[in-house]
Amino acid sequence: MQYLPIFTKLDDKPVLVVGGGDVALRKCHAFLKARANVTVVAPEFCDELVSLASEGKLSLIKEYFDTHHVLGMMLIIAATDNEAVNKAVFDAANNQNIFVNVVDDQPKCGFIFPSIVDRNPITIAISSAGTAPVLARRIREKLEALIPHHTGALARLAGDFRDQVKARFKSFSERRQFWERVFDSSVVSKVQVGDQIGAEQQMHDLLSKTLQPEGEVYIVGAGPGDPELLTIKALQLMQQADVVVYDYLVSDEIMELVRRDADLVCVGKKAGHHSVKQEDTNQMLVDFAKQGKKVCRIKGGDPFIYGRGGEEVQILANHDVKYQIVPGITAAAGCSAYAGIPLTHRDHAQAIQFVTGHCKKEGQELDWRGLAQSNQTLAIYMGVIKSPHIQAKLLEHGRAPETPIAIVENGTRKSQRVVRGTLSELAAKIEQHQIKSPALLIIGEVAALHEQLAWFGQTEQVSSFAQPITKVA
Ligand SMILES: C[S@@+](CC[C@H](N)C(=O)[O-])C[C@H]1O[C@@H](n2cnc3c(N)ncnc32)[C@H](O)[C@@H]1O
Repeated sequence: MQYLPIFTKLDDKPVLVVGGGDVALRKCHAFLKARANVTVVAPEFCDELVSLASEGKLSLIKEYFDTHHVLGMMLIIAATDNEAVNKAVFDAANNQNIFVNVVDDQPKCGFIFPSIVDRNPITIAISSAGTAPVLARRIREKLEALIPHHTGALARLAGDFRDQVKARFKSFSERRQFWERVFDSSVVSKVQVGDQIGAEQQMHDLLSKTLQPEGEVYIVGAGPGDPELLTIKALQLMQQADVVVYDYLVSDEIMELVRRDADLVCVGKKAGHHSVKQEDTNQMLVDFAKQGKKVCRIKGGDPFIYGRGGEEVQILANHDVKYQIVPGITAAAGCSAYAGIPLTHRDHAQAIQFVTGHCKKEGQELDWRGLAQSNQTLAIYMGVIKSPHIQAKLLEHGRAPETPIAIVENGTRKSQRVVRGTLSELAAKIEQHQIKSPALLIIGEVAALHEQLAWFGQTEQVSSFAQPITKVA
């Protein structure tokens, strides 16, 4: 290890910054955040340093650097653009055994500023020991996405209850068990939604009696397949679940991201595969929650768009089971974006209709006349098997045979395929290219824009890629 990670308490401790420009200013802000007693030495200062000094937040010494400036300091930063001055600061600090950091000169750094994920009072510091700051920043970005913003509030709540917990539970192991129970309880979700009173109330409940853990169900939309399209909230809930109930539409890459030791239950839902009946899935969610488990019900796309999320939530509500609903990117949005097909466009489509090719009951026939109107886009879910019927009905009700169509199979996944054609060719194209589920049918003038807007301007009628449209300058 090249640097020992420690967190120092700088409250009112003397620190020196040499330099009067923007870099020095940034370092002053870092020190001021930690409430250090900051002195800045330079022959000239930027306006903001002057105004910080006039507000009494730091002291300025308008002089050229001299070795006596380092005396009595705990930490020193050299932030000038003059190599000789920076070296003089470095030598003077080292002679006094004071930690020094010469900005952008790693060999002359006795301490470094790590990248920080700040969830005060929780602080995560990341350092590459100066070797790869961009990589460290990338890691920080990943952690930023993973560590929920309410973590700080949760730590503060725990801090407020520390003494009471110590008084109530005498042994260390009892206290540890208690805290494990707290962080597995819905105290966490109460803090997450800002219900401070509810969270405190539950802390008191947990302190006063031996409670069974409280179950909860998260109805989570996982998007169309690319794991990078998951929401941060979806990822967080996937990682705190005891049980994950999922169906085939959820991609393997997304299932890789669920908590390692969670129990996984597949409830199917794919043509030709055994599926658990919807009623049984509903009951399963209720039963797991009543056993005190946190259940993540992951669904492809968005749970409320042809996802039966509504039915499941109704059952949970009827059984007084707590739940959260996390929206996901629906197939129409994901597939169209990754295929370079804008669903609306001022020149071509003033409306978009989401349609299912699969109705629950006989007699739920679609409004074909409305669907056949021009100047709109149809995004048809579960339409592969019924494509001959869909094609015939739209033509019969007046949609032009040359209306552009696109079939997006495995949208946003590595195996994405886009097949282009016209409405009169819809069923034949599906047959010819052996399109398999999941596939989305996009019908309307916008489908023709695929040739122009798809990644790297692919113009083949069948293209195979799964990348967002990236304009490379
Ligand atoms: C039961 S619906 C679920 C829709 C999902 N709740 C959503 O919001 O995307 C399943 C249908 O969604 C479409 N679909 C879902 N994911 C897809 C993907 N990655 N590529 C193409 N179509 C997809 C297909 O039409 C599939 O038959």
